[in-house]
Amino acid sequence: MNKFILAVSFIIFCSGAVVTAQSNKQILINTKNVSMVLTVGTNNRVYQSYLGKRFLNDEETRLIPQGKHEAYVAGGMEDLLQPAIRLTHSDNNPSLELKYVSHTTRNPDDNVSETNIILQDPKYPVQVILHYQAFNKEDVIKSWAEIKNNEKGEITLEDYASSMLHLEAKDYWLTQFHGDWASEMKMQESKLTSGVKEIDSKLGTRADMYQTPVFFLALNKPTDETTGELIAGTLAWTGNFKFHFEIDERNALRVISGVNSYASAYKLKKGQIFTTPAFIFTYSANGKGQASRNLHKWARNYGVLDGNKPRLTLLNNWEATHVNFDEKELVNLFDDATKLGTDLFLLDDGWFGNKYPRNNDKAGLGDWQENKAKLPNGIGYLVKQAEAKGLKFGIWLEPEMVNPKSELYEQHPDWILKLPNREENYQRNQLVLDLTNPKVADYVYSIVDDMLTKNPGLAYIKWDCNRSMTNAWSSYLKDRQSALYVDYTLSLYKILDKLRQKYPHLPIMLCSGGGGRTDYGALKYFTEFWPSDDTDPLERVYIQWGYSNFFPALTISSHVTSWGKQSIKFKTDVAMMDKLGYDIKVSKMTEEELQFSKQAVKNYNRLSNIIWFGDLYRIISPYEENRMVTMYVNDERSKAVLFNYNLNTRYKEVFNRVRLQGLDGHKLYKVQETNLMPGTKSNLSENGHTFSGNYLMTMGLNLTPGKLMPLTSMVIELNAEN
Ligand code: GLA
Repeated sequence: MNKFILAVSFIIFCSGAVVTAQSNKQILINTKNVSMVLTVGTNNRVYQSYLGKRFLNDEETRLIPQGKHEAYVAGGMEDLLQPAIRLTHSDNNPSLELKYVSHTTRNPDDNVSETNIILQDPKYPVQVILHYQAFNKEDVIKSWAEIKNNEKGEITLEDYASSMLHLEAKDYWLTQFHGDWASEMKMQESKLTSGVKEIDSKLGTRADMYQTPVFFLALNKPTDETTGELIAGTLAWTGNFKFHFEIDERNALRVISGVNSYASAYKLKKGQIFTTPAFIFTYSANGKGQASRNLHKWARNYGVLDGNKPRLTLLNNWEATHVNFDEKELVNLFDDATKLGTDLFLLDDGWFGNKYPRNNDKAGLGDWQENKAKLPNGIGYLVKQAEAKGLKFGIWLEPEMVNPKSELYEQHPDWILKLPNREENYQRNQLVLDLTNPKVADYVYSIVDDMLTKNPGLAYIKWDCNRSMTNAWSSYLKDRQSALYVDYTLSLYKILDKLRQKYPHLPIMLCSGGGGRTDYGALKYFTEFWPSDDTDPLERVYIQWGYSNFFPALTISSHVTSWGKQSIKFKTDVAMMDKLGYDIKVSKMTEEELQFSKQAVKNYNRLSNIIWFGDLYRIISPYEENRMVTMYVNDERSKAVLFNYNLNTRYKEVFNRVRLQGLDGHKLYKVQETNLMPGTKSNLSENGHTFSGNYLMTMGLNLTPGKLMPLTSMVIELNAEN
């Protein structure tokens, strides 16, 4: 082993070691199965030399050539394509050169290694630190940048990416997830062609309504669930984002991920540091399924609040009552929750506002006092009544918003984002509060804090955000308007940070007019999110399939409602694949439906540990067949649960047997259909029988025994014999 290799090994393996490398040295960022190799060139610039499968013999990374792709291209110099960073110095010089100064690698624990690379412009005192946090077991890398201005004057950041990655493959296949209100997360795969493809949001708030900040990028050929090489990436940012994919003249691809710099030039004063949000990615050599499992594990361990803790099942009143209810009706509805056996009752929109009561979506937002006509005894009374019935109680809030018909609007017109000299522009009759103003941020914090202080029994919050930013202008920011989109999101995080210091474990659902906010920047403060207002289970099959690619099941709220004409069984089976809840008039259920639902909640309580904390195997995609099959397997591979949904199947459509995945080939599993309607028996010929994992993964199960019926479903438990 020569001296150089020794130096490299030292960087990787020594805990807490600080290594100052010299020119032509490699910096390794490794997880169990993934390697990223950066090289410091003789010119002292840092290059990305490799990203992909980890070598069997780490020492062979030494053989990897430096390559010519700078790891974090700075704009204004000789590079001809989109840079990662572009800024204007205080003397108006629009260029930046980033040269290697030093790097450190430390291991805060057995699973995580952190590499920080300091880069500096040789002529201007501007520093960029590239951070790479590698999660060994999860095969996930989190990367972000810090940009520090040490110049005497102000610099302006024009572009400030979180990450730049370079890939060299024959072809590149991009899978993106787009949609609209009530049709979120539609999956679309396309081959990238020469030039630029961008996926972005300029919506400010409710930023992901049209595009979710996630993607798969397959190398050479499209991947499926079990084969093919790909990167899965997501930006942890609850605001405008941009993914930029650019194939150059030699067919190399650069992927730039970060805050969308659209209308967002950001000024840094002397000594100020800008920290970009994190780009989180994994690499899989075994298809999308592995990439998703990596991200799910990472999310549960590091990305989502209390990701390894159980969730609450709930009954929500939104679909049942909308804003039309009173105290008596709510207390009656508590009985519905106890009948079903859910843990919590969630009171939705419509409980607040007095001068301008919230009796429709035209008034009341901003006035977070109980409406005296509807709730004469206040929230505290409801909490107590719920507790007396063995239920927890939760409440809906939309703290960032205001209706023009509200006392808040009358008292603080300057607290609202709106353009001078222009008419106000409404979405859902509401406007966005100016969170960049610290007074407004304090007010937003105090709404939630007061509510929880006055009602210590409150056990859950649904935090909504029902509009995007349009015609946005902040009277607080004055001549710094281009900081608005970024500062709004940073201020939201500050509020959430403060709330989490005081209420570290309170379950909070992230909602944004359906799935308009689904990102890991927010999810570190939230326990779950609302994926879509569309709860028709046929639509939900596609929507939940989409989210499952990047988010673990325990974060995806999924409710049984009156949307769709399918049977209660189909609705429930779809909701059970993620975090089960109800939003339905229980009084309208038949006796049989109620019996089924009660049992389903019990079944869910039995299976939820596998669904929430197990590994997900997506077996048959609804995009490829007229059905969807998916399964979860616990860590010990002793228990599994399989969901099978027949969609709009055609007469005499033929479905092949389904090979299961993720089981232990040597274990024997008893196959048992569950969640059957009262009085019905399973049609599954294997029901009640025991098979080896190997048989189930080789020969599989016939999931369409008997006559194939559209919109039918099956939930199957697999329990290993001891
Ligand atoms: C949004 C949410 C719904 C519901 C309504 C209440 O649309 O997505 O679930 O809470 O607001 O107004």
